[in-house]
Amino acid sequence: MVWGMTNVRLNSGMALEALAVVVLAAGQGTRMKSATPKVLHHLSGVPLIGHVLATALALEPSHLVVVVRHARDAVAEAIHRFAPSATIVDQDEIPGTGRALEQALHALPASFSGDVVVVSGDVPLLDSDTIQAVVGHHREQGHAMTLMTTVPANPTGYGRVLRNDDGGIVRIVEESDATDHERRIVEVNAGSYVLDRSAVQSALETLTATNAQGEKYLTDVVAALADIGTAVGGVRVEDSWLLEGINDRVQLGDVQARLTRMTVRGWQLMGVTIHDPSSCVIDLGVELAEDVEILHGVQLHGSTRIESHAVIGPDTTLRDTIVESHARVVRTHAESAHIHEGAHVGPFSYLRPGANVGEGAKVGAFVEIKNSTLNRGAKVPHLSYIGDADIGEGTNLGAGAITANYDGATKHRTTIGAHVRTGSHSVFVAPVELGDGSYTAAGSVIRKSVPPGALALSVGSQRNLEGWVEQNREGSPSATAAREAKGGTQ
Ligand code: UD1
Ligand code: CA
Repeated sequence: MVWGMTNVRLNSGMALEALAVVVLAAGQGTRMKSATPKVLHHLSGVPLIGHVLATALALEPSHLVVVVRHARDAVAEAIHRFAPSATIVDQDEIPGTGRALEQALHALPASFSGDVVVVSGDVPLLDSDTIQAVVGHHREQGHAMTLMTTVPANPTGYGRVLRNDDGGIVRIVEESDATDHERRIVEVNAGSYVLDRSAVQSALETLTATNAQGEKYLTDVVAALADIGTAVGGVRVEDSWLLEGINDRVQLGDVQARLTRMTVRGWQLMGVTIHDPSSCVIDLGVELAEDVEILHGVQLHGSTRIESHAVIGPDTTLRDTIVESHARVVRTHAESAHIHEGAHVGPFSYLRPGANVGEGAKVGAFVEIKNSTLNRGAKVPHLSYIGDADIGEGTNLGAGAITANYDGATKHRTTIGAHVRTGSHSVFVAPVELGDGSYTAAGSVIRKSVPPGALALSVGSQRNLEGWVEQNREGSPSATAAREAKGGTQ
């Protein structure tokens, strides 16, 4: 992936030499136990393949080839989104990373003679600076192939690196083919390589799938090259977390936790107060300004943007939402909403797409707002549904305001002017308009437009039918209570 906040530009000398990047993304990801292909599982709001493609593009390759097979169309769609220039290669029915690489190399133009970087679609944290360093080492040493190796806390599942007495790499053995002795080796193959195209292409042609998984292993190229006396180089990467591969959902969760810690730390160093990092999620597309304050239990998703001195949380989820400076958002769920400067939302508010809460406006408890604008200083403080409405400046909607915006066939708008006061439990049957400075009485059902300054009443005057309960609910607790209140005489 590319670290949005700390990404360092490649030194310009690098990009001048031709480089091709191959991304392996054809595997099914059986261990995820999912209908979704592994590389489309998300990490901080971006699919795994998106992280890897961002890194690939940061290397400024002259050719970018991505190998696909499982859930081909869905994966190809994601590739087009993150790297429109990529060449997509369909892996045939022969399984294995070796076959995937073989087909990718065939897709490069015959004239291409530069170095090839190979990365896996399921290793999302590997960054372009680390790859660049390995490319540099590969070029210096003039090896046919250079591996990235590391010593993770738990090597289970990875291919182990076998070295000869001189420390030279002679073979990679996969976990499922390894002897007990080999499994005790702690140095693992990270699954990312820099290689010389023609040497590796010839080696791949000699490989078979006679192993525990019945696959053509890319890793067998190492032994094939070593056997013919071609040296294979290795660069040991100290930060093993950079090379963590995601094969199951435990690893997905672990890598997500690490990425969240790093993202939170990045924002903290940029001047954002985050009270309880362990309870927060911040997608990579989110933007936060200095002096934003995030309380516990906050999830910020998609392209959410929060401006300075806004306070968010606790227990708030915002997706693709803009919160302007000095706004306060408490226990709220918002999607594609815009909360303007100094507005106050929550607790327990639900803002749906197109909710536009104006400067200094207020949205209170158990209020749902959709596709509606509250102009400056407007208030919807309690228990309301506001859909497809425009609410004027300084207007206050009483508790229980409901826009009846849907007649069963079509949605209609409600337009409420400035400085309107509506009584509790008013229903606005759209399309309808309330003029500036108008009032409605409590419990009104407003079906006709209200002129500016008018008080609209739609309820009949109150009648009391004396003794109705005692007569009609004989023997009920209510009837008894009523009798007692009247001195037990009736
Ligand atoms: C692979 C390496 C292992 C290494 C580990 C590091 C092989 C044989 N093993 O194991 O030595 O320690 O990565 O993470 O290479 N893929 C294809 N086509 C296929 C199979 C896989 O494109 O036919 C892709 C997958 O989508 C994935 C990548 O290759 O992105 C790696 O495949 P995976 O099955 O996860 O390999 P590992 O068992 O992790
Ligand atoms: Ca893997």
